Amino acid sequence: MSLQEFVTALDDLADDAKRAFDAASDPETLEEARVRFLGAKKGLLKTVQKRIGSVGKENMPTAGQRLNQVKSLIEETFQSTKDRLIDGGESDSDPTFDPTLPGAAPEIGHVHPITQTVSHLMEIMGRMGFEAAEGPEVEDPHHNFVALNIPEDHPARDPLDNFYLAVGENQSDRNVEGSRLLRSQTSTVQIRVMENSPPPIRVISLGRVYRPDAPDATHFPMFHQMEGLMVDKHVTMANLKTVLRIFATNYLGDDVEIRFRPSFFPFTEPSVEVDFLWDGTWVEFGGAGMVDPDVFRAVGYDPEEVSGFAFGLGVERLCMRRHGITDIRDLYSGDLRFLRQF
Ligand code: FA5
Repeated sequence: MSLQEFVTALDDLADDAKRAFDAASDPETLEEARVRFLGAKKGLLKTVQKRIGSVGKENMPTAGQRLNQVKSLIEETFQSTKDRLIDGGESDSDPTFDPTLPGAAPEIGHVHPITQTVSHLMEIMGRMGFEAAEGPEVEDPHHNFVALNIPEDHPARDPLDNFYLAVGENQSDRNVEGSRLLRSQTSTVQIRVMENSPPPIRVISLGRVYRPDAPDATHFPMFHQMEGLMVDKHVTMANLKTVLRIFATNYLGDDVEIRFRPSFFPFTEPSVEVDFLWDGTWVEFGGAGMVDPDVFRAVGYDPEEVSGFAFGLGVERLCMRRHGITDIRDLYSGDLRFLRQF
């Protein structure tokens, strides 16, 4: 075989291989073509290579060089065809693909029932002129206790009833300057609002609070409260009752009744528990009362000049009542079968 014949055989082989690879429409056919041309033992390139000795000793270097070039060329063609098939270039020619069909809609999540409740409550209270206020969930004892008239030896400050955070060197001392806790009530926001703005005030604050309560059907260690605060000249208990009744009928329906039971909170005087009669039963939703003069003094208000009411209602209990949820833990189980109902 002359050098010329050897080179022509190689070039023909490269052309044939390219045609075979181009014709392959799936990885299996492509692999068959690869074995036919590049197979290590019986491949067509190998067959041509075996005849290299016949070109004569002096032509061997040229023939060898050409052989390597053609081998690389065929391998490259194979690789690019493989990429095309695997990268989905194939789908352009897939006869079963119909670009006019509607796409598969991605599944979209939705707002958690408690977040929906928070928005709903804000909207109802907003219509009565209450603006939303916020405060931090990590609080200092001043805002969670001291300014709310809860003295140092009060049981509400007990570490067993609060989530104190490990800060500073003397972590075990709950009263040290600089200690922090997860707020146990949204009443902290009353203080922050009054510290920062003069009366009149009409705010609500909806947010998370934390208590080391053992979870049961009506208790959870993290829950939400809606705090309300109204301060002005001549605000009375009758205003409190009216605002809560309007709120309750808007949220639960016209047939709701409201009841106050005498109670005690260090930051209100007088203090009451708030019950709603709904569906034949009285249910406690929260606490309320007239802001204690000591609280006004702590924030620099003159109790002779202004009066005010405050209330704090459990958001989960409101949501449960409205939607007929019997166990608070369902709200936080993360079970989509439950959550998808809202
Ligand atoms: C308070 O937290 C007072 N800060 C309320 C208040 C505000 C009184 C302003 C006066 C003036 P109490 O601890 O009762 O009060 O909690 C209020 C409501 O939060 C309860 O009635 C209940 O609805 C809800 N609640 C309390 N603990 C839990 C819990 N572990 N899980 C779910 N809801 C709870």
